Amino acid sequence: MSDTGLFITVEGCEGVGKSTNISYLESLLSNQGVDVMVTREPGGTALGEDIRNTLLAVRGQRVNPLAELLLIFAARAQHLSEVVEPALASGRWVLCDRFTDATYAYQGGGRGLNTEVIAQLETMVQGERRPDRTILLDVDVSVGLTRARGRGELDRIEQETVHFFERVRETYRERAACEPERFSVIDAGQPLEQVQEVLMQLVQQLLAQSAAGTAL
Ligand code: TMP
Repeated sequence: MSDTGLFITVEGCEGVGKSTNISYLESLLSNQGVDVMVTREPGGTALGEDIRNTLLAVRGQRVNPLAELLLIFAARAQHLSEVVEPALASGRWVLCDRFTDATYAYQGGGRGLNTEVIAQLETMVQGERRPDRTILLDVDVSVGLTRARGRGELDRIEQETVHFFERVRETYRERAACEPERFSVIDAGQPLEQVQEVLMQLVQQLLAQSAAGTAL
């Protein structure tokens, strides 16, 4: 059994069902005796949640994309040092609702920021920390947006155009294709029971790999 916990991130566009599936994963892991904590980005700390509120607030004022990027990494620095690293070091598994793949997808793909700049901040803030496994819930953008928009008022990022989210989705899919050993891409357009069946198999795989202490 490896002596540090696994860092698992869950990604996807708006309305892919992250919350439902993260709760499901948490209960699957807990039932298997895994000490798991759920957290999110941006957020997960008092400072991070303040930054999240600032980022998502609708103010009728354009937010400079670089300012947005820096705020996200500021929240991430706090989250890593205060929550994620201590939890992993104590052997807990961390299930994180979004992480840096979201930055490549939203700020890189969506906003068009230079990927090199994101990569530099990633190294500065995270050192060598990367997710052990990333679950990408993938669904047609129009399906996801219809679900998200049915939930009520839209935050600043949810108000973006379909084209913005097409670029976000495309970037996620490209990243998954480049790192197939880290990413598990799940078709989130299929019925929930089928998504959960796939998650069940994935949990078995993660437990086996963790028990063997092998790299994921
Ligand atoms: P959500 O957690 O409810 O999906 O909301 C978080 C929003 O923040 C979502 O629209 C994606 C966005 N976001 C980024 O743009 N970049 C990031 O790096 C992260 C973590 C989130």
